Amino acid sequence: MKKVFIFLGPPGSGKGTQTSRLSDKLSIPHVDTGSLLRKNIQDNTELGKIAKGYIDKGQLVPIEVVSEVIKDRLQKDDCQNGYILDGFPRSIEQAQALKDILASLDKFTLKDDTLAIYFDIDNEVLIQRLINRRSCPKCGTIYNLISNPPKIMDYCDICDTKLTQRKDDNEQTARARFETYEKETAPLYEYFKQLGILREIKADKPISEIWEDLKQIVFEE
Ligand code: AP5
Ligand code: MG
Repeated sequence: MKKVFIFLGPPGSGKGTQTSRLSDKLSIPHVDTGSLLRKNIQDNTELGKIAKGYIDKGQLVPIEVVSEVIKDRLQKDDCQNGYILDGFPRSIEQAQALKDILASLDKFTLKDDTLAIYFDIDNEVLIQRLINRRSCPKCGTIYNLISNPPKIMDYCDICDTKLTQRKDDNEQTARARFETYEKETAPLYEYFKQLGILREIKADKPISEIWEDLKQIVFEE
């Protein structure tokens, strides 16, 4: 089985929902650049101060900031047996940066140890998903008021914490995120295909069906 998993797909396509399950299943960390950046914003770090303006506008945070966050995270002990990258890389330039980071860590390579899994879905479905997303600030569980509601409205099923809504989950910022995705991130599809490491999942199905497809891809390799 491969050791590094890259999840590629537009905002709201279900990357976070499936990667947190996969992280539990494989016992390897879920490295989600969006969450790492939001944590920096919450903690008011220098890095977070830079990232905030970009996230609020639905734009990519500068590569120097993201590369620093990723490199720092991948050096931790829990990443020695593999990891799941959710939301990184997000441009050809970031894919090159990832290659460099992997080379410097000297543990895994894109070509031999990595699978890039692309979530294929139409954008219009996704706006509704994003606007209705809520998540638990304590344990990170993701809900949806329409498709995946908590048992008690506004409270986490797992830890009973009051759910929150991401600031960038409004229609205007969501549309900007789609534009950024098309311009910067979509070209990675061909990039990973050329490398022979791309797999695709139809992501307009129920969460449980996507999970079955995902397990098949991950365990078949
Ligand atoms: P990030 O946090 O990564 O956001 P994103 O890519 O826009 O993706 P999302 O987290 O919104 O969606 P998801 O695919 O994880 O979907 P989820 O599973 O939650 O990035 C945010 C920002 O940070 C970026 O805009 C950028 O500014 C910055 N950033 C991050 N990484 C960066 C990088 N590498 N470089 C530069 N900047 C970076 O599901 C969404 C909703 O749908 C939920 O409510 C869920 O319950 C529901 N749902 C999930 N699956 C299904 C299903 N099958 N059917 C119905 N509903 C479903
Ligand atoms: Mg996510």
